[in-house]
Amino acid sequence: MTFGDVTRRGFLSAAGASAALADRARADIVNEAPLRERAARCGVLYGAMAMAGELLDADYRVALARECAIMTPGVEMKWGVTEPRRGETTYAAAESIASFARDNGMKLRGHTAAWHVNLAPWTRAALAEPGGAELLVARVRDVVGHFSGRIAEWDVVNEAIEPRDGLPGGRRASILYRAGGDGAIADCFHAARAADPGALLFYNDYGLEYQTPEQEARRRATLGLVDDLLRRRAPIHGFGLQCHLKAGSPFDQATFRRFLGEIAARGLRISLTELDVDDSRLAADPDARDRAVADHAQRVLDVALDEPAVVTVVSWGLSDRYLWLSKDRPRGDGLPTRGLPLDHALRRKVLWRAMADAFAHAPKR
Ligand code: XIL
Repeated sequence: MTFGDVTRRGFLSAAGASAALADRARADIVNEAPLRERAARCGVLYGAMAMAGELLDADYRVALARECAIMTPGVEMKWGVTEPRRGETTYAAAESIASFARDNGMKLRGHTAAWHVNLAPWTRAALAEPGGAELLVARVRDVVGHFSGRIAEWDVVNEAIEPRDGLPGGRRASILYRAGGDGAIADCFHAARAADPGALLFYNDYGLEYQTPEQEARRRATLGLVDDLLRRRAPIHGFGLQCHLKAGSPFDQATFRRFLGEIAARGLRISLTELDVDDSRLAADPDARDRAVADHAQRVLDVALDEPAVVTVVSWGLSDRYLWLSKDRPRGDGLPTRGLPLDHALRRKVLWRAMADAFAHAPKR
């Protein structure tokens, strides 16, 4: 036996040992309690968005059933999907998500009754005509009424703020807003309440987490909108913070903490409704990327979960296998985005660990 052989054998057994260690670490993470259980221990509901087509993936169904206590349909309840042609309403796709949730003992988020995106061309035209506000309110009544008794939290109005549009109060100059202004927004909540008195009704928006002048303006505007709704005695119970995070964005704990406190002080509960991490500012290396993504999310989650008003956390998908960002906002290098708790092979990632830890450290609700 030559010296070279010994070294080589030593190297191989060291490599074997570290592979075994990695396997053991993976086995631990596989055997650990799922996110839904971790979240439940601190009184939080954890779940994920899924699309009807993804439910055809048997392995993915298992992963969703294991990790989630609540589910949100990605597009299936949006107006463009439920009423592609005027008067031809279909809830078939949304129902497939609803029955999967029910069969697996999960709750359901309704998303979203009033939004300016995902509208059929007929809807855009009709909203611009006289009677647009009534049409909008009727749509809210229909979709919320259809699922009445089955929805834990409804995103009644989505993304009504865009200070850059220059309207008073930072309102978004959308087709919905032009149809009826603040009065129509309030009417959507009244209609939802009448259609399903048991559902918790939310206003939901994005771009509220970071320390930038744009996001500060968005925070002020959304609080102003909430105050307007409360003045109008609109039945609003919760505020949905989408939490589409972006690694590398300036996050300030104190600012975010204060903002969550301001929402809670208005008597609203808070849900993180669309958590994911855009990693397009990070270099390609997957391990380093996973660590940076997890680290970024954990900093936000630690502050969020410290606020007792935060009672629900929903990620916008569960696995990178179906991460919308890879399609809708691709990385410059074309690599798939790694912004969800499970990887392409449905293995738990560092982000999964960070979320599990954040739940473990959170005070009990
Ligand atoms: C996204 C879906 O994930 C995509 O599949 C669809 O093409 C567009 O909408 N804010 C929201 C969500 O409130 O409804 C959006 O979902 C993502 C941004």
